[in-house]
Amino acid sequence: MTVSAKLTWLSHGSWLIEAGDSRILLDPFLTDNPAAKATADSLTDISDVLVSHAHFDHINDVASISKRCGSTLIGAFEVVQWFQKHHHVKNAVMMNLGGSCKLPCGQLKMVPAVHSSSFPDGSYGGNPAGYLLTINTKRIYFACDTAYFSDMRFYAHGVDVAVLPIGDLFTMGIEDCIEAVKLIEPKVVLPAHYGTWPPIATDAVQWSGRVSAETKAKPVVLAVGESYEV
Ligand code: NI
Ligand code: MN
Repeated sequence: MTVSAKLTWLSHGSWLIEAGDSRILLDPFLTDNPAAKATADSLTDISDVLVSHAHFDHINDVASISKRCGSTLIGAFEVVQWFQKHHHVKNAVMMNLGGSCKLPCGQLKMVPAVHSSSFPDGSYGGNPAGYLLTINTKRIYFACDTAYFSDMRFYAHGVDVAVLPIGDLFTMGIEDCIEAVKLIEPKVVLPAHYGTWPPIATDAVQWSGRVSAETKAKPVVLAVGESYEV
């Protein structure tokens, strides 16, 4: 049986990943997100909530959605511990960098990201992470919030889809993203973490043109709410 994955961009760093019976929500930030079109309440039957790091723009709707849907919360040890302590989240998988776990739809690996991670209340949020998702033979790399760093190639070289931030200021911008695409050599690359607020407004069309001109990857710019199937 071939399970394909459907990646829907919910804006910013938020993605809905549908594969087989899994509906995985990465970094849910819909409430107080000016770019979001969906509300947190509209997301139903979420099997797993995946968190890359503890910043508010990645965890705002983690507690409400995972409690309402009975989702399994997956994230860094410290992130999961915080949600257990403050929100009594029940189902959880604690991970750390370099570790993998099995999901019904495939394999998930937590990989490094060069960023920071603390909760809005100042608590330590563990190491920031990216995720590598393997569904059947397809590999999908979510770099999440990160600077450009050369180990991206080690973890994600040749992936079918790479999801990279382009908004600059808090993560890499267009310039470094182009270098990252050259290094990772993904088949397809999707931009994220831009356009949410004026400070991370950027020209995705310019980015797309540069990816096409300077790399072998195929850029796919999704509008908020649009999906890409792999
Ligand atoms: Ni962040
Ligand atoms: Mn962020």
